[in-house]
Amino acid sequence: MSTLLERIGGEDAVKAVINAFYDKVFTDEALKPFFADTDFAKQRVRQTKFVVQFLGGKMPTAHEYMRNAHRKYVHEMGLGEVHFDIVVGHLAVTMQEFNVPAPLIAEVAAGLETLRNDVLDVPVKDAA
Ligand code: HEM
Repeated sequence: MSTLLERIGGEDAVKAVINAFYDKVFTDEALKPFFADTDFAKQRVRQTKFVVQFLGGKMPTAHEYMRNAHRKYVHEMGLGEVHFDIVVGHLAVTMQEFNVPAPLIAEVAAGLETLRNDVLDVPVKDAA
């Protein structure tokens, strides 16, 4: 069985989608404050690398990495469910624009859902 990454079109396809996705994220008024000090070019590269590894099934430390990367935004800036939903929504719309088939979009969204409690730093004992 091929990985989700392969079925979605490989690294080049992910790169194109992530770039278009970040055009939406970085201009979204609800998300902008979180990225006030962000180097956009660097963030695009780091995110692409992460998604390529995650979708390729090659990221055993993804959960810990996501928790550490977002913890301060949760506790200092109120990063919460609503922001997570907006981000996942932008990604789904972007994939639609790139004509990714709906079942694959659903699979990617389900994969990101497995990171929700980590991104939002929900204590492990409270997580579903
Ligand atoms: C499943 C969803 C998400 C994934 C896969 C993801 C992925 C990432 C990755 C890979 C990084 C880079 C970490 C590093 O190496 O330093 C990062 C940083 C960051 N993420 Fe997320 N993220 C997600 C959700 C969110 C949400 C909902 C927000 C809310 C706005 C957000 C805001 C940020 C910010 C502000 C940074 C730091 C950027 C900087 O260093 O300037 N992320 N994220």
